[in-house]
Amino acid sequence: TRVLSVASECAPLVKTGGLADVVGALPGAMAALGDELRTLIPGYSAVPIGGRVVAKFDDLFGGPATVEAMDHAGLDLLILRAEHLFDRSGGLYIDAFGADWPDNPQRFAALSYAAAHIAANGLGDWQPDLIHGHDWQAGLVPEYLAQMGCDTPFILTVHNVAFHGNTDAEAMESLRLDPARFHAHHYEFWGQISALKAGLMGAAQITTVSQTYAEELMTPHFGMGMDGVLRHRRHDLTGIVNGIDTEVWDPATDPEIKPYTTLKGKAANKAALQAEFELPKAPGPLGVLVSRLTDQKGIDLLLDSLHVLLERGGQLAVLGSGDPSLEVALLERADREPNLAVKIGYDEALSHRMMAGGDSILVPSRFEPCGLTQLYGLRYGTIPLVALTGGLADTVINASPAALARKVATGVQFSPITAEALANAFGRLCDLYADRKVWTALQRNAMKQPVGWDTSALAYHKLYEATASNA
Ligand code: ADP
Ligand code: GLC
Repeated sequence: TRVLSVASECAPLVKTGGLADVVGALPGAMAALGDELRTLIPGYSAVPIGGRVVAKFDDLFGGPATVEAMDHAGLDLLILRAEHLFDRSGGLYIDAFGADWPDNPQRFAALSYAAAHIAANGLGDWQPDLIHGHDWQAGLVPEYLAQMGCDTPFILTVHNVAFHGNTDAEAMESLRLDPARFHAHHYEFWGQISALKAGLMGAAQITTVSQTYAEELMTPHFGMGMDGVLRHRRHDLTGIVNGIDTEVWDPATDPEIKPYTTLKGKAANKAALQAEFELPKAPGPLGVLVSRLTDQKGIDLLLDSLHVLLERGGQLAVLGSGDPSLEVALLERADREPNLAVKIGYDEALSHRMMAGGDSILVPSRFEPCGLTQLYGLRYGTIPLVALTGGLADTVINASPAALARKVATGVQFSPITAEALANAFGRLCDLYADRKVWTALQRNAMKQPVGWDTSALAYHKLYEATASNA
């Protein structure tokens, strides 16, 4: 199947989170099954220039634009160049002060418009059989397809339902939306324009990044306002869990670490990591956390339960950035605790050393559609300690007595998602760590767990085939 993948980020070019990893990995994973993906992304200033121009717009939401085709890092990219929308310094979605760019609705409407244009008109000898969009940034695709009279089917993958891409109804004209479709069956959502809703209503199929999140999405707590829409679309909603790139994340060959295939080899990485974070040697487990610092990630729960890990002789090394108040809270705490070390920033290489050197990767998220760091942890024998939600529920096998007896346990899960339950889980983690035989068994199980794309690529392959042939 020929697929136009549409997203606001794509690793290794532009990344703020797991979305980029998934969008960057999908084309390779799908090529193995014969699917041909081209990936349309915005031409932010960080995206290299010099592609071949394959489409032109005289006026795309306020200025001229082109689509450039370029091969980069094994990806077949289509880059939407529009200086007035994407060529600016700051973040992908926020300015230098952390505020959303005020024209985000227009910026990503333009991306969706360009995607629909490519489906409707083709690019010379290439025309997609379907469009696969990711999150709200691709949500308006079905609206523009309808306007262009194009019946190319659309699949929407929800990576995070917290972001709706809503804007006031007055923006209808500037977004080139059809007023006749400002309606609950299309893009209207409680009197506003909602890009995510448009995508959910207009998609032939909806996927999300784990089975548990697919179920959670239909509940008021996790659906975050979209649960009604998702219940309405439940027959076309499936969960396909993310994989990771098992070549980039391979403890046997990782150039950022002291490569290891045995658990003895992991010990050298732990010593190096303790030295790098200026942590002393300690009797308990070394926890690591690599994360955006936001409310989603449960950092406050961690701060309120961490004393249990530290009292038991454990340690914690944190790498993250985001919400300034969480950054400050972590740094202040680290000033007082010799066994807590915090680095604020974004550092891909360090994240590899942390996976290799940590005993346990912590993911105490309030909600987590899939989560990738627990998958890295499994592969590196770094036992995940995770909240029982979303993809964390689906990819980690809790060290319950039954799972330990069956020798299948790979981590520790806690529920409900509270500081008290996390504190108890720290106690459990330390007990498991203290029993060398049990701990080694957990590590072996974890490292054997399949975390690549094989199974999920097949699921997407079948979905692509079925969706394209139903069109
Ligand atoms: P989310 O997409 O919600 O942020 P995921 O777990 O799916 O969560 O993906 C996060 C990705 O971003 C992972 O690849 C993780 O290693 C990476 N990451 C997050 N914060 C940092 C950081 N400060 N430095 C390096 N990598 C980071
Ligand atoms: C989102 C989710 C995360 C998921 C990622 C990739 O950012 O927060 O759980 O792993 O998308 O699908």
